[in-house]
Amino acid sequence: MTTAPSSRAKFTVPMLAARKATQEKIAMITAYDATFTCIVDAAGVDIILVGDSVATVFQGERTTLPVTLWEMEYHTRLVAKTRPRAMIVGDLPFGTYQVSPELAVTHSVALIKAGAECVKLEGGIHMAPAIQAITRADIPVMGHIGLTPQSYHRMGGNKVQGRTDGIDPGGRDRLFEDAYAVEQAGACALVIEGIPGSLAREITDKVSIPTIGIGAGVHCDGQVLVLHDALGLNERSFSFAKAYAQLRTTSIDAITQYVAEVRTGVWPDDSHTFH
Ligand code: KIV
Repeated sequence: MTTAPSSRAKFTVPMLAARKATQEKIAMITAYDATFTCIVDAAGVDIILVGDSVATVFQGERTTLPVTLWEMEYHTRLVAKTRPRAMIVGDLPFGTYQVSPELAVTHSVALIKAGAECVKLEGGIHMAPAIQAITRADIPVMGHIGLTPQSYHRMGGNKVQGRTDGIDPGGRDRLFEDAYAVEQAGACALVIEGIPGSLAREITDKVSIPTIGIGAGVHCDGQVLVLHDALGLNERSFSFAKAYAQLRTTSIDAITQYVAEVRTGVWPDDSHTFH
């Protein structure tokens, strides 16, 4: 097993809180296995999110809803095995924290035992009791509001939120209430996804905990991207995401060459043959 280089200090929850004051931006990215954890850790990310996006980018699902707690524990364990310098956040999958605060604690404990150092859950006002219960068990919690992919059916798809006024779910006023509720419940940070940049800026200015944006403009305290989007591994691309490499094309080119060399007998050559 490869382990990540150890030149940086371990990134911890107190260091995350301090970033709000120092205004040093937080860089978070998803990873789901040991190989890519070593790569993103070597690149210096602060936080690795074992996101439930594993369902869509790794398991081939249409939404994040099907991934199970057992599967999230498995991927968290693969990431934690490499002992990255980055802080590991484990995503609580759909159905594991909505039923009761007690179950939310039990399932958070499972992710912590798998190696997570913080858990993340989606939702605002209605999830405050769960956040409070988990933090009382001394487990740090990251909130997630705005476009919450686990609310896929309520939203009618992955739709940008905060474009209407009001206190209905997804309304501007409701998003402020959601942010305050998550903060007051004791969360250590807040992911803000898929809302106008101006609204994300206002929320960031008003809450005392760091905000981490995705599709929420540049004024959040940090940013998060899904690894497969950042590396250009997906067939689809999203307007809010940036591909910093084109690994899908590079990979297809490489394997096309391999197939051709096998078929023509060029591979393996003498230098890769035992004598
Ligand atoms: O699961 C995930 O990748 C996420 C990010 C989009 C924040 O929740």
